[in-house]
Amino acid sequence: MTSSDHRFDLRQTRPVAATRSAVAWVLKYGLTGLALRVGARQGDLLARSVVDPARRADPFPTYDEIRARGPLLPGRFVMGTASHAAANDILRGDRFLAAPAAAPAKSLDKLLDLVTDPRALGPVDPPSLLAISAPEHTRIRKLVAYAFTPRAITALTGRVQELADELLGKIAAENTVDLIEAYASLLPVTVIAEILGVPEELRRPFVELVNEAALSLEPGLSYRDYRRATEAVRNGHRFLDEHIARLRRKPGDDLLSRMIEAADGSDKLTDTELRVTALLVLGAGFETTVNLIGNAVTLLLDHPGQLDRLKAEPDGWANAVEEVLRYDSPVQVTLRVSKADTDVLGVPVREGQAVVVMLGGANRDPDVFAEPNRFDTTRANAREHLAFSAGPHFCLGAQLARLEGATALRTLFERFPDLALDGTPTRRGTRVLRGYRRLPVRVGGTPKSVS
Ligand code: HEM
Repeated sequence: MTSSDHRFDLRQTRPVAATRSAVAWVLKYGLTGLALRVGARQGDLLARSVVDPARRADPFPTYDEIRARGPLLPGRFVMGTASHAAANDILRGDRFLAAPAAAPAKSLDKLLDLVTDPRALGPVDPPSLLAISAPEHTRIRKLVAYAFTPRAITALTGRVQELADELLGKIAAENTVDLIEAYASLLPVTVIAEILGVPEELRRPFVELVNEAALSLEPGLSYRDYRRATEAVRNGHRFLDEHIARLRRKPGDDLLSRMIEAADGSDKLTDTELRVTALLVLGAGFETTVNLIGNAVTLLLDHPGQLDRLKAEPDGWANAVEEVLRYDSPVQVTLRVSKADTDVLGVPVREGQAVVVMLGGANRDPDVFAEPNRFDTTRANAREHLAFSAGPHFCLGAQLARLEGATALRTLFERFPDLALDGTPTRRGTRVLRGYRRLPVRVGGTPKSVS
């Protein structure tokens, strides 16, 4: 495919119906934001964990406070848990349903439907897999899952290695680079784009677009950021319209072509389902793995003894990846809503109750992980983390993320054994996704401390 086939500009924008957009923001984020600010002022710990900048930057002490108050903490509007056992109980089974991150009150659902633009449905709006439940969830997940079976992922091993070598080859010509931009985001975006058949020249712009769209995961998002996120999502839909039309004319050997075939065949995926699922897979395919790689590099540079051991014993990389996922989880939080009156480890939960599941907190639960605040790449049970969630929404790309993480890290430190920070890494500042926006490094030199 040549670049002349694609004159599409992902940054193009279109005017939007401002009133409709404002009402949608109020329902999806504005009310939640107001409730969070009021709750935080009144001392609600769950609200403060979202609103207070210091708690957002370092959420781990707050998780400890929440866990110390019991398996499930009632808040003013939502309940929350940082307990591994309670999180497991909620995520597995079918007593709790996946919910849009910005769930409005049930009574406002109809109004929200009216103001929601079907061409701006994002990663946490139905019919995204992250926001729907069985039977729709089962039907759509099945169509995507075949591309992520263990066999399909093993077949990608050589290609992932090749890409890591290629990207590091380009970095070798530089003295200093932003590792997020030059490596941690480009490796996973290229892999997922190839799986979906996205042309090469659109990959960098796609990173920017999905970074903006991912803002829609944030509870209580400001109107300004909402407009940015919605515009990015809308551009994603427009891109997919053109891309899907192209693949309909000339199918390839990629996941999206297979999904289009299924959509047009007996599985009857609607065009909206097709676009939203493709956008989710594209976004989820790199927006989280970039955090895994960035978080791992900073942690390892700050623990040079552990890094030296990994360099000497490369078989340890797989477990090191599990420990990074546990210790500094790329997805910190998810949300569920109870289907009926029930209880979680003895705490009563009413029908329709929203529950915030703090995956990053469950992963620091001392009942499961000895000395949970110690980073230890040899930890025997690191893999018991919930960083990929659990139950019906367990991450479809977990094996791919593990492969990419271990390959990216091993190859990076083999190629640049003296890699060191070149300034202070900058966090993204988001509450749901946890990672670095910038990670300046020198590819040779003496490591400096991160903290
Ligand atoms: C370190 C990297 C990754 C992390 C930490 C991660 C984490 C997660 C989590 C926590 C969920 C479930 C959220 C919930 O239960 O509400 C999820 C779902 C999902 N992930 Fe990942 N993910 C990663 C990489 C990937 C990759 C590489 C793909 C590739 C396609 C992917 C695709 C998906 C999809 C499609 C879902 C939705 C599954 C469903 O709802 O049925 N993820 N991921």
